[in-house]
Amino acid sequence: MRVAQPFQYQGSKRALAAKILQYLPVGVQRVVEPFAGSAAFSIACAARCRAKEFWLNDFNKPLSELLGLIINHPEDTADLYKATWRGENEDALEHYYQIREDFNRTNDPGLLLYLLARCVKGSVRYNSEGLFNQSPDKRRLGTRPDTMRENILAVSMLMKGRTIVTSHDYRDVLANCRESDVVYMDPPYQGVCGERDSRYLSGISFDDFVAALDQLNERGVRYIISYDGRLGDQTYGQPLPDYLALTLVEIEAGRSSQATLLGRQDVTFESLYLSKPLSEALGAQPCVQHRNSTTQMRLLESPSQYGIIST
Ligand SMILES: C[S@@+](CC[C@H](N)C(=O)[O-])C[C@H]1O[C@@H](n2cnc3c(N)ncnc32)[C@H](O)[C@@H]1O
Repeated sequence: MRVAQPFQYQGSKRALAAKILQYLPVGVQRVVEPFAGSAAFSIACAARCRAKEFWLNDFNKPLSELLGLIINHPEDTADLYKATWRGENEDALEHYYQIREDFNRTNDPGLLLYLLARCVKGSVRYNSEGLFNQSPDKRRLGTRPDTMRENILAVSMLMKGRTIVTSHDYRDVLANCRESDVVYMDPPYQGVCGERDSRYLSGISFDDFVAALDQLNERGVRYIISYDGRLGDQTYGQPLPDYLALTLVEIEAGRSSQATLLGRQDVTFESLYLSKPLSEALGAQPCVQHRNSTTQMRLLESPSQYGIIST
């Protein structure tokens, strides 16, 4: 099933959304994405009618505003993109730098759409002063305006009237989640970014994240976390503590953008952690696709609890 996606975004879960959706129970009232990025998971949920409502949040304000524009004002957003796009014109690169300067002055989310469509690997990078400083991809022209319009209209059709979009710190979102929600979290990668990585406006602290998960557990809110993973033999990300009682399911991500970013050929496995009420309701079994016991020991704190799939 092809699901529309208006813009490329580094770390997008578009390619994995169908696999992750296997762990979403049926009849979900609302899916909450506190680290929405391009909202690939929620869009895939909407396309497959897997939830009635959505709450998209991203700390990056122009990005969350862009999601809001795409959903609620699709024609205007597509018109602005058309007016901004330059295709193969000779001045296309110069134009990109001009738009980037305009965006840094105004934070206009419509301009961000053009930058995302045209920049290297859809990778949002900011300098220490918070200015967008990603270069244009010289080999790509950016999505053509007609295709962009189709994608925007398709996403708007799926999400309009049943989606709220905010730009808060994820902890404020989690504090307001209901027991009937399912929260899908895809926080910034630890392994390749660290906490000070310039690809995101804000990194997150591991301890704060664990504390927030603990509170969700106390309130019985169901959640799924995409959490770093493993590239070949190399694991990324500090393991989440046992006391959170999460179920780990590794999903094969192929040679993901993260692998490409690291210049590696290895297969990437992404870790998906399911909260206890969710895994119990689904009857989900832990599943680790492993090649090498050292990796397994590093990834898991109590390997004997886990079912193992050899690859
Ligand atoms: C790995 S990306 C999510 C990608 C997304 N799943 C997708 O498919 O496009 C993580 C996102 O978290 C956002 N973020 C970083 N720190 C945050 C915070 N403290 N609260 C909320 N969002 C944050 C970043 O702006 C980034 O868009």
